[in-house]
Amino acid sequence: MSPTLFFQSDIKDPYAIYKTMLDDHPVFWDEANQIWAIYSHEYCTEILNSLNVNIPTINPNNEQKLNEHALKIINHLSRLSNGTQHAIAKETAMILFANIKSIDINQIIVELLDNDLIENKIDWVDSVCKKLPVLVILKSFGFEQDDCKFISEKIELLVKMMLLNKSAEQVQAINEISESSYSIVKKHLSSLSFYKPLLDKISESHTISLEETITISVSNLIGLLIQSYDACRGLLSNSLLQIINTHNLIPKNNINKTQIQKLVIETLRFDPPIHNTRRLAITDIVLDKTIIKKNETLLLVLAAANRDQKKFDNPLSFDIERINNDENLTFGIGGHMCLAKYFSIHLTTETLFHLFNNYNTIAILENNILYEPMINARLPKNIWISIQ
Ligand code: HEM
Repeated sequence: MSPTLFFQSDIKDPYAIYKTMLDDHPVFWDEANQIWAIYSHEYCTEILNSLNVNIPTINPNNEQKLNEHALKIINHLSRLSNGTQHAIAKETAMILFANIKSIDINQIIVELLDNDLIENKIDWVDSVCKKLPVLVILKSFGFEQDDCKFISEKIELLVKMMLLNKSAEQVQAINEISESSYSIVKKHLSSLSFYKPLLDKISESHTISLEETITISVSNLIGLLIQSYDACRGLLSNSLLQIINTHNLIPKNNINKTQIQKLVIETLRFDPPIHNTRRLAITDIVLDKTIIKKNETLLLVLAAANRDQKKFDNPLSFDIERINNDENLTFGIGGHMCLAKYFSIHLTTETLFHLFNNYNTIAILENNILYEPMINARLPKNIWISIQ
């Protein structure tokens, strides 16, 4: 089996592989997969900050046969673009995100728990982690109830847009829901007071047409929803597993948000939802005395960099008091760094606080957690818990 590209569902302990690779081959050429895998914190940081790499194209010449609406979205996402197009998309995404309203997260959590709790048992992943982040973003933008329902039910399919390889069924589903998602978001955006100033600002400062600016705005709001789905789901899941496994760190009679937030940040380092991301070299690059040639692809193993002993003391120990836990690479770094780091940490902290503050006993009902068959993310499929 390849030590670089594997499904997280097939591997019990990916961190053991990362440790071996980090110790022996921090910059590794995987001949079979024609990809460089980078494991150290120093080199991952160097590449994430480098101007000599791009985000690889995931659907060259539309070989996946996405339709007009899906293409419109995918071709304008900040996450997938480079150069000037990236600067415009990122600025748009950041203005959109800066305009979300603060809402009562607890009310949504209560509804999600009430909907699915049967005899005190609930699948934390299905009932909370997959729904909460998207609902919070939709409601923070003021979407109507029906639109929240439609988009939160379809988001699992829309997210498949980001896959490198898509099955014919996935392409069909993406094509089917892209048109309606696009028109719902476009209509709603046009009702928001910050929208016209946003369009004016972007189209004037970058001299692009109003129509193009609308497309960029709609696509990147959909992008915020897409980006929030898997990663936040994973953080909510992995943090719950850590808080239960290490409950002695958070005394039951003294649940406080500061402690939970420290635990969430350490979970981001120790057991992150996103394990790797990719880049394409656009010039020759020298790394660790090795030449990475123009047009070669790099896999940046962020989850390995997070356990690099040159960066973190005693990296294999889960320690919420380590002073530099926040220097993990889980949200990326550089131009493409995640714009929702604090949102994600806050949402997870509030959710776990709600759970532990409102229930006396929270227990995991199965020991063997299975993971999704994904290469870039380690996401528990289900976590059945009892809460009383
Ligand atoms: C635990 C939660 C999250 C994690 C671990 C995470 C992780 C990441 C990472 C690693 C990147 C950079 C990818 C790269 O450089 O190749 C990224 C980018 C991005 N994230 Fe997040 N993310 C999370 C939540 C969110 C949420 C909730 C949103 C939206 C509200 C979001 C929106 C974005 C966007 C728009 C980008 C693209 C930025 C750009 O390329 O300019 N993320 N995220």
